Amino acid sequence: METLIKTCCKKLRIGQGFYEGYKDIQAQTHEEFLLRLLQQELKNREIIRKKRLLKTANFDVIKTFDNYSFSEIQIPASLSTEDLKGGNFIEKKENLILFGPVGTGKTHLATAIGVEACNRGKRVKFSRTASLVNQLVAAKASGELPKLFKQIRKCDLLICDEWGYIPFEREGTQLLFQVISECYETKSVIITTNLEFSKWDGVFYDEKMTSAIIDRLVHHSHLPIFTGTSWRLKHSTINC
Ligand SMILES: Nc1ncnc2c1ncn2[C@@H]1O[C@H](COP(=O)(O)OP(=O)(O)OP(=O)(O)O)[C@@H](O)[C@H]1O
Ligand SMILES: [Mg+2]
Repeated sequence: METLIKTCCKKLRIGQGFYEGYKDIQAQTHEEFLLRLLQQELKNREIIRKKRLLKTANFDVIKTFDNYSFSEIQIPASLSTEDLKGGNFIEKKENLILFGPVGTGKTHLATAIGVEACNRGKRVKFSRTASLVNQLVAAKASGELPKLFKQIRKCDLLICDEWGYIPFEREGTQLLFQVISECYETKSVIITTNLEFSKWDGVFYDEKMTSAIIDRLVHHSHLPIFTGTSWRLKHSTINC
């Protein structure tokens, strides 16, 4: 009997959790049993979906809001910590520019927001900006740019970490502009950066494109400012 159940599940593409868990279900009637079984399967699918979303988001390290301190972040009036945690700016397709010096928790916050978004069923793509640009340039060379853009188009939140840490050539800048242009008013973008807008010209290949990128990013955007000093230095195991 068990083998037959397994075969049916396989054909119906129902996961292992279904036939592993049904024996523990307590029910008085057939209907109640069926309902519990279906509810259990829905729960299993939810867990699998979240795991898949977290994997495809491609976070460098998983970080959460547990023990995250907001005390040294100036959050603009347009936003609250609850908005950041709940990610309602994602529903509104608004952007976040997380600005501040090294080690102050920008990547941590961007990641925690992204992880929370995955838990709520959103599609997230996390990249260091330089590796996104490398990916774009390589995809263009191999004719796979449409595929990569399709992937980007599908996500609800694009996180570009370490924005402006490494300068880009003409092609890289053009492709990054294309990405930001695609995302404009269609999805949320979070960038983490320690570079003020006036210095972006030095990083991107040409001035016009830089202005066009800034223009698209800042419209519908919030700018939390990180005012602390490096968490890495403060918590270093070496006495500096
Ligand atoms: N406010 C905070 N609460 C808890 N942990 C923090 C906080 N800020 C930073 N950290 C921790 O300090 C380390 C450095 O933080 P993070 O990598 O987010 O800094 P960053 O601002 O992205 O720096 P960089 O500009 O160099 O990339 C991480 O291990 C992070 O978890
Ligand atoms: Mg960082």
